[in-house]
Amino acid sequence: MTSRASPGPGLFISFEGIDGSGKSTQARRLSETLIQAGYDVVLTREPGGSAGAEEIRALVLQGDPDRWSAETELLLFTAARRDHLERVIQPALDAGRVVICDRFADSTRMYQGSSRGDLRDTVDALHALMIGVEPDLTILVDMDPAAALGRAKARATDEERFEDFGLPLQQAMRAGFLALAKANPDRFVVIDGNRNADTVAADVTAAALSRLEQVSAAQ
Ligand code: ADP
Ligand code: TYD
Repeated sequence: MTSRASPGPGLFISFEGIDGSGKSTQARRLSETLIQAGYDVVLTREPGGSAGAEEIRALVLQGDPDRWSAETELLLFTAARRDHLERVIQPALDAGRVVICDRFADSTRMYQGSSRGDLRDTVDALHALMIGVEPDLTILVDMDPAAALGRAKARATDEERFEDFGLPLQQAMRAGFLALAKANPDRFVVIDGNRNADTVAADVTAAALSRLEQVSAAQ
């Protein structure tokens, strides 16, 4: 795929996984742990993370599941990511900070790339053209789809456009994320999210610290 976003001491960590798998919980906990350990951390999320991208977030996550075609949706997610990268992620990495992002381009590969027909080649071409970077470390929180959907549905939110696609989508997305992890073993760490949050967090912390040590040893 493409290059590191961070040529310097910064580290770019993304969290991926199906809805309700515990990504946001673990991203927040990792951020707290790394701040306590003395790292300079930016915790952010997609879709969103910058003012313009948060406006696009409302467009893509609210309303009828058929509101956008898969192609239009891909353009909206990519526009949001480009703004987020330009204004938040890249400046933070250039300043040597640790960026923790709740979802990044792998979500587009999965959701827009394969949830409604095969658009994966288009997703990859647009990514190469407009984004062009990958995280240093991607933590895939892997989880049983039915249990994850139960957790996601228990949240009171109006951002349910994707959750409305239901269990079959969650099952396909889980398999797709695991396949992506297998294809990119240097970037991905797969963590079992079916356990209690403390146990999951301990594994997440170990994976992140190990990658931070690798990067500082290489400099
Ligand atoms: P995601 O960001 O992947 O959609 P969240 O972190 O928002 O997932 O978690 C979804 C729901 O499940 C939240 O209500 C959260 O408090 C709860 N949750 C998160 N991790 C766990 C866990 N390990 N065990 C039980 N419940 C959890
Ligand atoms: P998110 O707020 O992370 O939802 P959750 O906390 O339930 O996992 O993301 C909202 C939805 O947006 C989620 O169903 C996945 C979808 N999504 C895409 O389809 N493409 C993308 O590129 C991204 C970042 C998210």
